[in-house]
Amino acid sequence: MSIEAAPDTELFGVARTARWTAAARARESARPDRLFDDPFAALLAGTDGDTLLRHFHTERSAPDGNPVLPIRTRWFDDFLRASVTPQCQVVGLGAGLDTRAYRLNWPPGVVVFEVDQGTVLRYKRQRLSQAVDVPRCERRTVAADFTGEWGSALLDAGFDPTAPTVWFAEGLLFYLPAPVAAAVATQAADLSTGGSRIAVDLIGTGIFRMRYMRPFLDKLADSGSPWLFGTDAPAEFLRQAGWNVEQVTEPGTAGTDYGRWPQGAPPVDFPNLPRSYLVTASRRPDGPGPTSAGAAAPSDVHR
Ligand SMILES: C[S@@+](CC[C@H](N)C(=O)[O-])C[C@H]1O[C@@H](n2cnc3c(N)ncnc32)[C@H](O)[C@@H]1O
Repeated sequence: MSIEAAPDTELFGVARTARWTAAARARESARPDRLFDDPFAALLAGTDGDTLLRHFHTERSAPDGNPVLPIRTRWFDDFLRASVTPQCQVVGLGAGLDTRAYRLNWPPGVVVFEVDQGTVLRYKRQRLSQAVDVPRCERRTVAADFTGEWGSALLDAGFDPTAPTVWFAEGLLFYLPAPVAAAVATQAADLSTGGSRIAVDLIGTGIFRMRYMRPFLDKLADSGSPWLFGTDAPAEFLRQAGWNVEQVTEPGTAGTDYGRWPQGAPPVDFPNLPRSYLVTASRRPDGPGPTSAGAAAPSDVHR
């Protein structure tokens, strides 16, 4: 089932999903018990964002929306707060309409690079020009397509591969073909000096097998933004890319439910259930990660 274009639709296909997640942040920000406050989200989501929220609301979603989206955003916020140091670089891969450069308190000297398609970044610039706020760090946008070469665009924007970097890819990797998702994680590792960190979210392959997920997946495909990649070995995914995995968790597990997932994550011994993973990893302070060093892989068990 394809979706009607809202009057202010300006983004199409996977670019448009950025308005969907912005709308989810706007909805969360309006809650008295919000997990974060994104004062720009409603402006960026526009009426099209609300259309998308309604369109992609699955039958089994809670009436007040899918708890994964606010939990995920808060988890990434917490990761960034815990990881950044003065003068470090932060790179948002598939940053979309993320406004962390404006809404988080950054240590002095932090540079935030937002990498996404040019259409998304242009739309974002135009919308944010209507807001009166300024970024709380140095913010640089990098127009690039992850299906091609994107590292040089980041370097051209002033990224320094010898400086510590905190990478994050929120809501990106499952929109990419598997080899492209792996190449993105590997390229980030290759551009990272020791001590750099990364956080990503991934989906398990059970999502593609559950019958009740099919209408949702079909809607995504019909909207030109199919989910293409899932893995049941989230730690191995980053390890293969050259990262030392620190944590694999799921929305709904202890410490990652933020009071929003009372029924808990699906039990680990039911791998075929729909799962989403939140993974953090780092580069060793003294050099490259475990892929090239050939270190023994810790188990993929995550909780
Ligand atoms: C679901 S949105 C998530 C945006 C943001 N990280 C958030 O959480 O709101 C996915 C983003 O990935 C970007 N994206 C997907 N495929 C891409 C590609 N091949 N090259 C560059 N950006 C891509 C889209 O443009 C979109 O902004």
